Amino acid sequence: MKGKIKMNLKERLEEIKQKGLEEIRHAQDVKTINDVRVNLLGKKGSITEVLRGMRDLSAEERPKVGSFANTIRDELTQAIAQKNEELEALKLAKRLESETLDVTLPASPVATGTPHVLVQVIDEIEKLFLGMGFQVVDGPEIEEDHYNFEMLNLPPDHPARDMQDTFYITNQLLMRTQTSPVQARTMEVHDFSKGPLKMISPGKVYRRDTDDATHSHQFHQVEGLVIDKNITMGDLKGTLELIAKTVFGQNREIRLRPSYFPFTEPSVEVDVSCFKCGGTGCSVCKGTGWIEVLGAGMVHPNVLKMAGVDPEIYGGFAFGLGPDRFAMLKYGVDDIREFYLNDVRFLQQFSQKG
Ligand code: PHE
Repeated sequence: MKGKIKMNLKERLEEIKQKGLEEIRHAQDVKTINDVRVNLLGKKGSITEVLRGMRDLSAEERPKVGSFANTIRDELTQAIAQKNEELEALKLAKRLESETLDVTLPASPVATGTPHVLVQVIDEIEKLFLGMGFQVVDGPEIEEDHYNFEMLNLPPDHPARDMQDTFYITNQLLMRTQTSPVQARTMEVHDFSKGPLKMISPGKVYRRDTDDATHSHQFHQVEGLVIDKNITMGDLKGTLELIAKTVFGQNREIRLRPSYFPFTEPSVEVDVSCFKCGGTGCSVCKGTGWIEVLGAGMVHPNVLKMAGVDPEIYGGFAFGLGPDRFAMLKYGVDDIREFYLNDVRFLQQFSQKG
């Protein structure tokens, strides 16, 4: 009887071992192998169960079966540990594969905008003047009548006020019609003992115009002003020529025609030789070979006086140009409203990304 039990236990252990090894071999993941371990070696596992049955063995047989059981337990424990290691390694390999990041792959494109074409024109002009030591000055768009007109030699009821139809907010406040008020504001505070005043001021201006292909109630200007001793019209002409060549091409020439602005004397209107036909006459220059691009002149003594600058010592020139008009001419845009509709298809044509 006892021998039979011993046989049975040994067979049973052998059987458990074979079955166990089989299960271990087939285990596909860490969870399964853990289940196998619990079923074999856990508190309620089959080996434990067999060991419990050893109570019924004789004192002589107990150690033999016991040591056999231990061997099998060790074998299974080792097989489980090995398989577990394999599966863990496999799991890690899979994870590495699925989470691998190829840093050499090209990034997905990010849609970015491009500076507005008017900003591009203004930037170009700013760059030119910064290079010549000018300062770039900002001014308010809601302006006082005092600076927009009076300080520019346009007292109330001056007929030249009609040249610029104005959006008034109150009697004294308006949407600035030009960037020239920034001249007056800057002259007033400039310390001439520290050197000449050289400034440009780009910005938005407003006029009560009905919008059409060549008029917009809001457009842009870049004001320029130089005040120093011994400034002549030659300095003005040289500066204007530089602007024309920078924006419209190195072969451009300019010509000055007499004109009138209340804040400059003499005043000139400036034409640039047609960049399309080179001066022979075409549709862009309306057959004249010249295109009017800006207004300018020598600063009126009254304007200097009002800003506290002595016209007997100091003088200078000023100009006002329109980036909208520049961009229309340069790129053949025939409707100023295009700049303000913000249709991306239009704006993307001026992408600087090449
Ligand atoms: N402010 C003038 C205008 O808007 C242009 C200008 C500026 C003319 C400076 C002369 C000097 O028409």
